[in-house]
Amino acid sequence: MPELKIGLVGAGWMGKAHAMCYRAQPLAFGGKPAVPVLEVLAEVNEEMAGRAVREFGFQRHTGDWHAVVDDPAVDIVDICTPNDLHLDIAMAAIANGKHVYCEKPLANDAKTAFAMAEAAEKAGVITMVGFNYIKNPAQTLARKLVAGGEIGAPSYYRGSFSADFLGRPEIPFSWRCETAKAGSGVIGDIGAHCFAYLSHLVGQPVDEVVCNLEIVIPERPAPAALGGFDLHAAGSGQMVQVETDDLATVMFKTAGGLDGHMEMSRVSLGKRMDIGYELTGTKDAVRYFYDRINDLQLYKEDGDPSTRGFTHIAMGPTDPRYAAFYPVPGLGAGYNDYKVMEVQDLIEAVAAGRPAYPDFRFAAEIQRVIDACILSDAERRWVKVDEIAV
Ligand SMILES: NC(=O)c1ccc[n+]([C@@H]2O[C@H](COP(=O)([O-])OP(=O)(O)OC[C@H]3O[C@@H](n4cnc5c(N)ncnc54)[C@H](O)[C@@H]3O)[C@@H](O)[C@H]2O)c1
Repeated sequence: MPELKIGLVGAGWMGKAHAMCYRAQPLAFGGKPAVPVLEVLAEVNEEMAGRAVREFGFQRHTGDWHAVVDDPAVDIVDICTPNDLHLDIAMAAIANGKHVYCEKPLANDAKTAFAMAEAAEKAGVITMVGFNYIKNPAQTLARKLVAGGEIGAPSYYRGSFSADFLGRPEIPFSWRCETAKAGSGVIGDIGAHCFAYLSHLVGQPVDEVVCNLEIVIPERPAPAALGGFDLHAAGSGQMVQVETDDLATVMFKTAGGLDGHMEMSRVSLGKRMDIGYELTGTKDAVRYFYDRINDLQLYKEDGDPSTRGFTHIAMGPTDPRYAAFYPVPGLGAGYNDYKVMEVQDLIEAVAAGRPAYPDFRFAAEIQRVIDACILSDAERRWVKVDEIAV
């Protein structure tokens, strides 16, 4: 079987998740049409890279990401660093003709994200961005139902991604709290996923937004040591000012006439991962909630009114991605399984030499909506997405 050699940059939460997915791909998908090979890993220094390389199973390591993008053996550069580094690493990889798999949000602003998409398209390399939630077979089905007119014309959307991973003030300051490194707070971090759901489901560009952003916990202890995402990391005595938003509330309109609203939070105590949406159409409705991660809910306005209601559709092996994991329906696929499906989509696209989905352009369009939300909050008004220059 052909091999695709992976150069991973960043070995925190996502770096580990991506490494697990590459290792799972030969088991789930038989290493077809190509086998990902864990070639080289970069971390912020040699010591951290050496530690991660042993844990993750890469062949080589480096304390300098330039060595990964310049490595002639590497086919795919995989970027799992804080957001501000995505640009330089991706551009250097693209210039060297590498395919690029990058975590979301693609960049710190839309202008940068569009420049990245254009560079990749010009170079003819394949790109993929980590909007893993849309890889759930439930979202494949939802998209198919909506596109097939099953619920009529989409008319109202309610989206949520509320969590509490930064809910306690003693959780140390990290790159997510710093504008230069993260670009923004929840609106970019979590909002990127919310807008990816919307785009995946209805395929209509967002036309206009009004948004409110809030910092709920204004300062946090500085971290005591370098390291990846860790809710139990020790903080030092020194307090640091939080710069990025903890809460975002958005109302939006799409070019196709869909109205909706979304809430995003990283400080909603007790809501571990309240992710989901409700999409109402002119005929029927579809909805999804992460606490029933494998079920799509469909409402049909027909039949006996006394028994009408949302039907839970459990995902099963009629979806080939699900079938790669389980032979019977209703078993719980989870977060990392969807990430393996994402990796498989990337490998298939690279092996076939065709665009992957979702690519840099998809992510750049989302970044433009995020920028519109930030401008709306700053100027306290509705903002047209095309006001954001790209
Ligand atoms: N798709 C998802 O569901 C999802 C979930 C979490 C994070 N993310 C995204 O993944 C990316 C990483 O987030 P994370 O939670 O894994 O962060 P993290 O803090 O856990 O890990 C980032 C890692 O990058 C390393 N790093 C920093 N500078 C580096 C450099 N110059 N060279 C090499 N390594 C460097 C850090 O040491 C750290 O280990 C972000 O873009 C984030 O938005 C996506």
